[in-house]
Amino acid sequence: MKSIPVCDYEGSDYQTSFWEQGARRYEDAVEAVALRRLLPAGGKRLLELGAGAGRNTPRYQGFEEITLVDYSHTQLQQARQRLGDSPRYRYVAADIYYLPFSAGVFDAATMIRTLHHMVEPRLALEQVRRTLQRDAVFILEYANKQNLKAILRYLLRRQSWNPFSPEPVEFAPLNFDFHPATVREWLKVSGFVIERQLTVSHFRVDLLKRLLPLSLLVAMDSLAQWTGNLWQLTPSVFARCRAVGTFATGQGFFRCPACGQEGLADTPPEILCPSCGQRYPVRDGIYDFRLEKRR
Ligand SMILES: C[S@@+](CC[C@H](N)C(=O)[O-])C[C@H]1O[C@@H](n2cnc3c(N)ncnc32)[C@H](O)[C@@H]1O
Ligand SMILES: [Zn+2]
Repeated sequence: MKSIPVCDYEGSDYQTSFWEQGARRYEDAVEAVALRRLLPAGGKRLLELGAGAGRNTPRYQGFEEITLVDYSHTQLQQARQRLGDSPRYRYVAADIYYLPFSAGVFDAATMIRTLHHMVEPRLALEQVRRTLQRDAVFILEYANKQNLKAILRYLLRRQSWNPFSPEPVEFAPLNFDFHPATVREWLKVSGFVIERQLTVSHFRVDLLKRLLPLSLLVAMDSLAQWTGNLWQLTPSVFARCRAVGTFATGQGFFRCPACGQEGLADTPPEILCPSCGQRYPVRDGIYDFRLEKRR
């Protein structure tokens, strides 16, 4: 089995340091606007990929059941503290490249601020697509290399990488910015059509965030988001996609990420794969389907 490096948030205080103390109320608010615009009114089962500490989860109001996936057990513990133990939420520690769900079990999925950690983004998108039903909605947020700041820095020769070229740029280990045209191509070949693109965080500039009232910045960004289908020059892009093409018929809900056997019986505190014998623990209400790591 191929081992693909994962950006590990285990033990990280990301939610507090990045969001709550990191002066990112603007980014959080404009992402909320984009999600509101793109999410369907409701549905049955939503899969949240790279859910982290569940910052966005309360925004998925209309869905009956939400499955939070993250590679980090501690991020999911924080999410569980925030959201509680309602049967509406399922917490799953798993690797997006080896998702432990049968084909076609979700009618919606979101992946926010997570694709930028993927060294094999196309593989990740193919995995997501496999778990979706026909016509399921997938909302993808990605970090855009062709953003205004990067373009200016490049033109002023303060940045070596070219924001216009199609390949991803790894600006820090396991942190990538992507070209919008490349992401669109990956989505297409993975079995998605894009219905709408919103550009988000037009005013992600410290000086502006300090000088202008938050409500004004959010209002201006909300307006500018609608240009997202025409051009993409913001650091963040949201795309609402629909799953199309051919669909396999799945069995049950859980699938063994090691051998691909579907229809695993949901038997906490441990799930056993009858096909390969792999065991997956369920601890503190969190399913652990990670293949290389058990904490
Ligand atoms: C920047 S955080 C975003 C969290 C949340 N979506 C948000 O916007 O607040 C990225 C998350 O992706 C998770 N992640 C990174 N690579 C992963 C992988 N291969 N499989 C599952 N989760 C992964 C990390 O553990 C981390 O919690
Ligand atoms: Zn198995």
